Amino acid sequence: PDEREENETEKGLRVQDKGFLNTAVIRSEITYIDGEAGVLRYRGYPIEQLALHSSHLESAYLLIYGSLPTREQHLHFETEVMRHGNMHVDSEEFFRSFRYDAHPMSMLTSAFAMLGSFYSEANPSLQGQKLYTNGDKESLATMDRQIYRLIGKATTLAAMAYRVRQGREFVTPPVGLSYTGSFLYQMDHLGEEDYKPNPVLEKALDVLFLIHADHELNASCTTVLQTGSSLVDPYSAIAAGCASLYGPLHGGANEAVIRMLVSIGSPENVPAFIEAVKRREKTLSGFGHRVYKTSDPRSFIVRKTADEVFKVTGRDALLETAMALHDAAMKDEYFIKRKLAPNVDFWSGLIYRAMGFPMDFFPVLFAVPRVVGWLAHWRQMMLQDGGVKIWRPRQVYVGAGKREYVPIEKRG
Ligand code: ACO
Repeated sequence: PDEREENETEKGLRVQDKGFLNTAVIRSEITYIDGEAGVLRYRGYPIEQLALHSSHLESAYLLIYGSLPTREQHLHFETEVMRHGNMHVDSEEFFRSFRYDAHPMSMLTSAFAMLGSFYSEANPSLQGQKLYTNGDKESLATMDRQIYRLIGKATTLAAMAYRVRQGREFVTPPVGLSYTGSFLYQMDHLGEEDYKPNPVLEKALDVLFLIHADHELNASCTTVLQTGSSLVDPYSAIAAGCASLYGPLHGGANEAVIRMLVSIGSPENVPAFIEAVKRREKTLSGFGHRVYKTSDPRSFIVRKTADEVFKVTGRDALLETAMALHDAAMKDEYFIKRKLAPNVDFWSGLIYRAMGFPMDFFPVLFAVPRVVGWLAHWRQMMLQDGGVKIWRPRQVYVGAGKREYVPIEKRG
């Protein structure tokens, strides 16, 4: 029998599910999405309530450990995360070795992988350590430390990727500021004695971080789990997730929105752009979603946050165009029929732009908070009953049957 027959006679049902439209690979208690109703909940709590009352680090604790922290747990978590923000001085050389115009997502992806080389516990098989086990204090403490490190250092690595391109000295994380306050400090601080991040911008960034923290099994989270299923260290698994997020269909969409708005230029050019989208010559970036088929609940929170930010920074010149585009698409039959509505990225790029972040830094502002979600899912998988099963999907083979090798001189 040839190879194809062997494939077909194997036991069991093999279904090809291109793009994983209908394949569940894990049972999860973390994030619930109802794409038809436009619902998003972290551990049961509606995203709207968390955005209003919680903070990014509190929601991070919730996502990772399953319940809202007590005051004491919150303080401990925050202290540990912030304490782990410092980087080894040798990492400065690592950042300086990039080309002057390196994309910050390339730097961040590499930097997460680099972290594994700094910590001896990163590779359990080499170190002869036990794998993470429920009830085993030592292995759980190691896991917690890796979680603190990755969340704490995410902002530091992102700020280093930013500053090296600006030709600025690196800044060590300050003491006494919030997670996003510390991030803004590390980005912006130029040595002023009285530097303080703007509280409205600090809060707005915290809300944006919170709503970007998790979105169940999107491409990047799936990549983290796929990579982690080989029991590699979490630094390497997070680096893999970061690479996946870099793509324009995922974390790169907020940057694409701004490029699209710049190319449209002004509201009077919107109708022509919409017609070009309908002729499939253009994509309406920031619209459409694999799961949400009504509205993305995060887009309303981002829109509201944008208004807060613009009170400080002034209205972005592209806002009028964005609003005209939004309104035109929402009442056009083409978009209504296909259930296309704004996703989280439609408005977020405008906020980042108003806050002064360069356009190619936008995906970094998505990756930094998403570290939380990646870790929550990785932790859940590592501690699941029955242990981890390596993710090894099957294929439907459609290539040639068995062939005889032909020496090169006889190939014509
Ligand atoms: N502009 C124009 N048409 C679109 C768009 C869009 N943004 N999105 C989907 N469509 C059309 C498709 O062409 C298709 O039309 P057809 O049925 O006539 O062929 C129909 O709507 C269904 O879309 P699919 O491509 O099947 O949707 P899918 O779930 O595969 O893709 C995706 C989802 C990738 C998000 C898509 O909507 C898209 O490319 N959007 C723009 C990029 C973007 O904003 N990405 C961010 C996603 S959110 C995030 O990562 C945080």
